[in-house]
Amino acid sequence: MRVLAISGSLRQGSSNTAALEALARLAPDGMRVLVYHDIARLPPYNPDDDVEDQPKPELVVTFRAIVGACDAIVIATPEYAHGVPGMFKNALDWLVASETFAGKRVVLINTSPRAFHAQANLREILATMAARLLADAFITLPLTSKTITCEEIVADPTCSRRLGHVLDALREAVQES
Ligand SMILES: Cc1cc2nc3c(=O)[nH]c(=O)nc-3n(C[C@H](O)[C@H](O)[C@H](O)COP(=O)(O)O)c2cc1C
Repeated sequence: MRVLAISGSLRQGSSNTAALEALARLAPDGMRVLVYHDIARLPPYNPDDDVEDQPKPELVVTFRAIVGACDAIVIATPEYAHGVPGMFKNALDWLVASETFAGKRVVLINTSPRAFHAQANLREILATMAARLLADAFITLPLTSKTITCEEIVADPTCSRRLGHVLDALREAVQES
């Protein structure tokens, strides 16, 4: 089982990226969580560059292929000005017209309990993109420090239990279908 994890933060010490790396660390045998690190390298989305039967930028082709090959996607993103960060939205825009995204199972991890606007916004975006939102698997992690590491998240009982819930729910959802 393959899970693609996408962080909305470009920050080197990102707590959202650390949470996804912790998810990967806790994944059981038979499940691989790949953390995608290239959203900053994707070109700005332009419909002129996304025309059927015309070559697409190489990174976009790879990104779409990775999305197509995974059984589910897990997203953790910061909230910027009550929305999602621009580069992350740009990555989603590259998936809108892609045949590989519609129907994909998606789980959201919110790393900041006070940031609810971006989560609501993201749910609306993903529903519009015909994602299959596994809402029962969504979690919030109480990460108050901006400098938390993957190891610290794994070692935290509350965080590791909630991440374990995500992994269990993903396995069940994929096995059911
Ligand atoms: C430009 C900018 C705008 C932000 N806007 C919000 C906001 O509207 N609401 C909020 O709760 N936090 C906001 N934050 C705080 C970030 O969401 C918070 O620092 C987050 O944990 C960063 O995630 P990261 O560690 O993965 O980079 C903002 C931060 C930045 C840099």
